Amino acid sequence: MSLSRITVTAVRNLHPVTLSPSPRINILHGANGSGKTSVLEAIHLLGLARSFRSTRLQPVIHYEQPACTVFGQVQLAEGGSSNLGISRDRQGELQIRIDGQNARSAAQLADLLPLQLINPDSFRLLEGAPKIRRQFLDWGVFHVEHRFLGAWQRLQKALRQRNSWLRHGTLDGASQAAWDRELCSASDEIDTYRRAYIQALKPVFERTLAELLQLEGLTLSYYRGWDKDRELSEVLASSLFRDQQLGHTQAGPQRADLRLRLAGHNAAEILSRGQQKLVVCALRIAQGHLVNEAKRGQCIYLVDDLPSELDEQHRQALCRLLEDLHCQVFITCVDNELLREGWQMDTPVSMFHVEHGRITQTQDHRE
Ligand SMILES: Nc1ncnc2c1ncn2[C@@H]1O[C@H](COP(=O)(O)OP(=O)(O)OP(=O)(O)O)[C@@H](O)[C@H]1O
Ligand SMILES: [Mg+2]
Repeated sequence: MSLSRITVTAVRNLHPVTLSPSPRINILHGANGSGKTSVLEAIHLLGLARSFRSTRLQPVIHYEQPACTVFGQVQLAEGGSSNLGISRDRQGELQIRIDGQNARSAAQLADLLPLQLINPDSFRLLEGAPKIRRQFLDWGVFHVEHRFLGAWQRLQKALRQRNSWLRHGTLDGASQAAWDRELCSASDEIDTYRRAYIQALKPVFERTLAELLQLEGLTLSYYRGWDKDRELSEVLASSLFRDQQLGHTQAGPQRADLRLRLAGHNAAEILSRGQQKLVVCALRIAQGHLVNEAKRGQCIYLVDDLPSELDEQHRQALCRLLEDLHCQVFITCVDNELLREGWQMDTPVSMFHVEHGRITQTQDHRE
């Protein structure tokens, strides 16, 4: 997938604008505070119905405007195009339109516009809470395994039932046993998809990382959220008392994690900031390759402040990997000289200069 047109109104400091980006490399450059990240924010909003900086959408709306909107025309993998629109007002009203129809959920947007974000906060994937790594993992599984979403929804429902029962005990034994069976079956299904995904991801990740860094012995492993040698039903039965005390279910896929280790330590504790960024880039680029292989379209990369924390050699290596993915990429930087050269002759590159919220195209990929 790629965005062939984007129209942005009242997102942060951006003046209303319509862009026709390159299907491959797009570079947004300009001074600090000019609005580069805001463009990525607008695309993020279109693909996920939420901001990547704030959990609230309110700060994304221009101070003086009642609502922000983003429209995009997406070129689909199977040919043809789809028109997406998202609008959010100050009262919290969110409207998602897909080809002129109101959409039911943000998952529909995510399916049409698979986004990968690489920004200065990316190291959190290594350092942060397991939830961030689960989101990373599930993004990948969602985009290559269409049965994942259904299993995930079943799990959430069964888990809500069980946690409510743990707290209030309102359900009779037989009904709760039925819900537990549902919980275990959805959990096994999710575990199967996640495990297969990690198995496919690992060699691609290792290959990608080797292009960026010489890190002998970095291992990626998957923890499913409960003892690998026991059935979930058995684990649930043995931890029932503790679950009741805590009021929620401790074991299960909602506790899964990915572990990156180096020389017997958590990789996040050992690697430098720049190395962490490169490891995260390798993980995200590997995900892009798996999306490509699944032939359900391609993802779009939003790379905020690419040069930060990377030296010349690593910056070039990363650009080459992004280019080799054949995906659409939006890259922001302060100094465009750092990214102007080095792309292959036949790669269409567009450049946009951002200044006080106004965007001017300085290089057109079609020329
Ligand atoms: N809701 C809003 N309404 C209007 N302006 C806003 C709003 N939120 C943020 N801004 C302003 O938008 C400007 C652009 O921010 P943005 O993060 O896009 O800059 P940037 O070009 O990415 O800068 P940097 O190079 O420092 O990362 C900032 O000056 C910020 O103060
Ligand atoms: Mg920025």
